[in-house]
Amino acid sequence: MKNTITSIQSFCKEKGFVFPNSLIYGGLSGVWDFGPLGIELKNNIKSSWWNFFVNSSENIIGMESSILSKKQIWDASGHTQNFVDAIIKCKKCKSNYRADHLINDILKIPTDNLDLNELNELIKKQNIKCQKCKGDLDKAKPFNLLFQTKIGPEQSKESIAIMRPETAQLIFTNFKLIQNTTRKKLPFGIAQIGSAYRNEISPRNFLFRCREFEQMEIEFFIDKNDEKCRLEYTKDKKEITQMLNQKILVYTADMQEKNKKEQELDFNYLIKNKIIKQEYIAYWIWQYYVWLNKIGIDLKKLRIREHTKQELSHYSVQTFDIEYNFPFGFKEIIGVADRGNYDLSQHQKFSGQKQEILNNNEKKIIPYCIEPSCGIGRIILTLLFDNLETFKDKQGQDYTIFHLKPFIAPVKIAVLPLIKKLSTKAREVYKKLLNQNICIQYDEAGSIGRRYARQDEIGTPYCITIDYETLKDDTITIRDRDTKNQERIKINDIYKKTFASQKLK
Ligand code: GLY
Repeated sequence: MKNTITSIQSFCKEKGFVFPNSLIYGGLSGVWDFGPLGIELKNNIKSSWWNFFVNSSENIIGMESSILSKKQIWDASGHTQNFVDAIIKCKKCKSNYRADHLINDILKIPTDNLDLNELNELIKKQNIKCQKCKGDLDKAKPFNLLFQTKIGPEQSKESIAIMRPETAQLIFTNFKLIQNTTRKKLPFGIAQIGSAYRNEISPRNFLFRCREFEQMEIEFFIDKNDEKCRLEYTKDKKEITQMLNQKILVYTADMQEKNKKEQELDFNYLIKNKIIKQEYIAYWIWQYYVWLNKIGIDLKKLRIREHTKQELSHYSVQTFDIEYNFPFGFKEIIGVADRGNYDLSQHQKFSGQKQEILNNNEKKIIPYCIEPSCGIGRIILTLLFDNLETFKDKQGQDYTIFHLKPFIAPVKIAVLPLIKKLSTKAREVYKKLLNQNICIQYDEAGSIGRRYARQDEIGTPYCITIDYETLKDDTITIRDRDTKNQERIKINDIYKKTFASQKLK
């Protein structure tokens, strides 16, 4: 059976992955809370990301900034001016729409390229009306997405603080301090995981477009005039060859403008023909393909799409999105942008403080920056669409299996007595496993088949069953979620069968 946004959203609520925020007061649009399983899943994704991108890399270091910061940061970065979407209001019922989404929903045409004038022209020409009351629409206007708040008892211009719309900017404002304390030489990157806030006009598609969400970002700093910063000096040959040979589905700005179809191309072609202008953009896209594959996302459902000139963010020289083919179309799950040295230069200008560092030739420069940026909610949504399978079982009932990789699954092992009478022994096994620092569950309620089914649908890779033989010889059965194979092993071998094989890490 096909997953839809509605089925996924109710699955998440029913099983304790994700709940609507403020639900007992009617819900808060675009804001979600993570339940007991959701937080485990999210933490596993974050730690896999951190281990892959930060702890396994010679030249990436981490940081964590505050959510609140001075408005001056966002004046310098251009967000107070440029971080806008086009809003359109119904003259009659006052409903608000994001203009490009409204046109896309009605006319089913891509709207990423359209500026404010083009949006207004289309709305007039196509006679688009309010979707709620059929009333006339006002002109589309820019709407700034920044959330601001006031800090301290004095209410002045100075007391305005901004809730960060991206974690990236605070990496730039801490750049000099981090470089001073770590003495890193170019090229190097700074990573951050944390929440971001955007006052979206119309949050939609569950975890896809939210007003509060978490990002995992890296700002990777290079000297674009220094050969020593090139990929060939910083990565080993084998890795580069692997990357160059990787084929991916590509949708360039040119293809979009000429209404052509996307094409399968390899990175070698993309770099040589300057379709990807900066080789580190290619590198980070490829690294993400490797990581997405590792966490269990089908690479065949991905493509990369270049931003057209009209849709480029104000800071970007070139951006590629990695998109997943959701039921609501190919949509961005990761963005890889060449931000040039826009951000650091702006902070130097606005703060009056030098943002230069010494390059590898002892010359002062403001480094250039490549940014791979990823939203955790979108990764969770992708995992749900890609790994959640529902089919009819032999009795004609719906049966669901969440085929998550064991190291990503929220619950690693479920301990189940065959019948309630065996609970003393089963709880003994459970207590022993509780000390292993992983999330496990104990369940004795209902038939064993029903309990297996409950674990399959939340993605638990292993179920351990305690039966009468356990009392005789300290053996249990261990059941594999995907193959359904059951193996009888000694209680003392559970560790060897699961944790020691690294499957759970
Ligand atoms: N830092 C890029 C973004 O948040 O979209």
